[in-house]
Formats: sequence, C-alpha cells, structure tokens
Amino acid sequence: MAIEIKAPRGTNDVLPGESRQWQYIEDAARRVSDRFGYREIRFPTFESTELFERGVGDTTDVVQKEMYTFRDKGDRSITLRPEGTASAVRVCLEHGLFGGLLPLKAYYIISAFRYEKPQAGRFREFHQFGAELYGTASPQADREVIELAWSFLRELGLNEIGLNINSIGCPECRKNYHAALKEYFSSRSDELCETCRGRLDRNPMRILDCKSPICKEIAAGAPLILDYLCDDCKEHFETLKASLTDAGISFNVDPHIVRGLDYYTRTVFEFTDPVSGLALAGGGRYDGLVTELDGKMQVCGLGFAAGLERLVNVMRERNLFPEEKRAGVYLAAMGKNAVPAAHRLASELRSKDLRAETDLMDRSLKAQMKYADKIGARFVIVIGDNEVESGNVTVKDMAGGEPFATTLTEAADAIAARL
Ligand code: HAM
Repeated sequence: MAIEIKAPRGTNDVLPGESRQWQYIEDAARRVSDRFGYREIRFPTFESTELFERGVGDTTDVVQKEMYTFRDKGDRSITLRPEGTASAVRVCLEHGLFGGLLPLKAYYIISAFRYEKPQAGRFREFHQFGAELYGTASPQADREVIELAWSFLRELGLNEIGLNINSIGCPECRKNYHAALKEYFSSRSDELCETCRGRLDRNPMRILDCKSPICKEIAAGAPLILDYLCDDCKEHFETLKASLTDAGISFNVDPHIVRGLDYYTRTVFEFTDPVSGLALAGGGRYDGLVTELDGKMQVCGLGFAAGLERLVNVMRERNLFPEEKRAGVYLAAMGKNAVPAAHRLASELRSKDLRAETDLMDRSLKAQMKYADKIGARFVIVIGDNEVESGNVTVKDMAGGEPFATTLTEAADAIAARL
C-alpha cells in the first residue's frame, strides 16, 4: 500500500523555479555583509539544549514552548537551533575569537526551528540572514548594525520598510523597572496566562511580549522602560538616534518593543512590513550574553537577523525580483550523427563556463524548439546530419538579435564572444 508522506507542518519546499529568488536574496546578504567587513561563519544545526536555555533565556516563549528538543542516542539533550545568536557566541568562545582582532564581525545564513503555530509568515522551519558584531559598547556600532540591515533591505528594493527602535536599558535600570512592572501586573495577576503568572517574579518583562490576547491587553497599559533608563543608557540611545538621523535612516521610537529573547540590553529594533505588519528583521545589543555563556569574559555584542521566507514573500508581492534574462545555449539535434555532435558541442560550451543543454528525450525538432524556449535559452543551434556533414551551423539569437553563421568547430568561441 502506498503511503502518502507529506512535508511536516510549518515547513516549506523550494522548487527549481523558485530557488533563484532565494539565491537573489542570499547573494544580496553576502554582498552587503562584505561591504561592511562581515565574514561568514557556519555552525551546527543542533547544539546542546543548555546553550539556548542560558543564552535565549528560560523564561522566553522560545525556550519554554517552542524548542525542538530531544535526547540523542548518547542520552544528551539536543536542541535544533531556534536562532543564531547564541550559537554565534558559542563559536567565538570555543575558538577563542574574542581574544583576536576586535571588533569581530560575522554573518550567517541559517535554517532555524521553532515549534510555533504555523500561519502567514510564521513557520516551524524558517531561514535567517543574521549579522553579529562583538567587542564594542559604542552607539556607533548600533548604528552600523542597523545600517547594515537597512542597506540589505534597500539592496532588495524594500525602501518602504519601517524601522522601529527602543532602548530596554541595562541590568541597572531594569531593577527599578522590574519593580514597577511587578507592581503593575500583580494587581491583575489572576487574569494573566499561566506562563506569565510564573514570569511575574522571575522576569516580568517577558509578560510584555506574551502572545496571549488577555496578557497583551493588560501589557498595553504597563509602565514603559524608556521612563526608567539610567543616564548612561539614555545617552547611548540619544547618540544612536542622532547617528541614524545623520545616516539618513528614518526611524520611529516604539517604547513597546521588548523583543522575545532574554539577552538584549539597551538598543532593540525591528524592521516591519507596513502591509502585513510582520517583522522582516529584528535585533539589538546584548552586552551580557557572552558573560552569561562563558562565566567570566565580558564582551559586548549586538546584531540582527532577517527572516528569509518573509522577504521572499514580500518581494514576490511587490514584484521586486528582476525578470530572468535569457541565458545559455540549446542544441537541437536531429539525426544519427547530429546527436553525438550536439553532445560534443554542449561539453565544449560547458568547458567555457556556458550553460548548454541538448535533447535527452528523443523529441521532435518542434518539441525541442519549444523546450529551448521554455528553459529560456539565449541561443539555439539546430544540428542535423547535413550540418554535421558541412560543418556549418546557424546560431539563432532568442533575445531578438540577428542570427549568425559559424562552424561546428568555431561555434563555442563565437557564442562565448557574444555573452
Ligand atoms: P527574532 O526576532 O526572533 O530574532 O527573529 C528574526 C527574524 O526572523 C524575524 O524578524 C522574522 O523575520 C524571522 N522569524 C522569526 N521567527 C520566525 C518564524 N517562526 N517563521 C518565519 N520567520 C521567522 C532573532 O532570532 C535574533 N537572533 C536576532 C538577533 C541577532 N539579535 C541579535 N543578533
């Protein structure tokens, strides 16, 4: 009996006709990262669970509800990465990179996994382009990371994406803020969801980004962190705002942004699509994360990550992917001697780094021409036994250029010269 096996809920397949769009975005990510001096790092899809419990924070939704955690055959607790920041810090600690050249700048393009309720723009496996910067407390670093994300979105033609920023202070300013939040939420604690009731003592800020509608409603009237910032955090935020203005990057201060991960200090930000309301990218500063994971080292960090599925979607909706240009050569072959001649010429074209295809389906000449058109071949050469005998061929330019005559031996060079 045949079993129908489908992709797991909340995952996506990328089909041959779509992968170009993904590559377009990934190429832009690499190009823009390179312009800012960020180099790629790669790390495992799974890590020990403790890394995320300590890094992302054990009172966050991500850790409490959304992680893919399992025991491996060696009875270790393993988790599929729900994001890249904790892993990136682990990489730097494990390889001693914080002892090298600073600032340290790294980017990554990764899959990430969160057991969330699948809906528009929210998946259980998704992909991120992220960048991280280590070793500096300067607000100019916050500007650089935001400018990198902003430049990436502009590179994709997404000029209208809104930037919202906030400061959530440092552990010093949080003390007073936590006390104020506790007081506020305690008066309505029996209305909070069960998870948030548990957060009230341990981490009341987490209640501010709970997805439950009642918690959201209560949180809307909560005290704002911006009113509790210490002088240093205030100054940091003011300098960042001035620097963003200087860079011509418009932003909106949204005092309600707290972000869903525990490691943030001071600056947090999100780039939001005004049409769907979805965050396309988010990030911030995390000056305590390295110490949290290492136990002793104090290294400032900050960064962002953009969601690739959301970007692909928004760009499709806005028709921002450039039309694919005709490329490569199709060799239509008909006849006993023509078929091997076409394969030989295809190999020669490929050795010159050109895309070349010929018939593998024993199709009629008409059907081969149709195929050549569908795959978007730029040039087509019809090779019959006559052409093999005379050695002369005509190259048809499917992009509307004049056809031209050449020989089987010179065809590859003649075409290479025109591309
Ligand atoms: P995040 O806000 O959790 O931050 O995720 C960053 C982006 O990933 C979001 O803005 C969104 O576009 C995308 N994303 C998140 N969850 C999903 C999902 N379930 N389905 C589809 N897309 C999703 C982080 O992950 C931080 N590590 C960013 C960062 C880097 N902060 C500092 N450095």
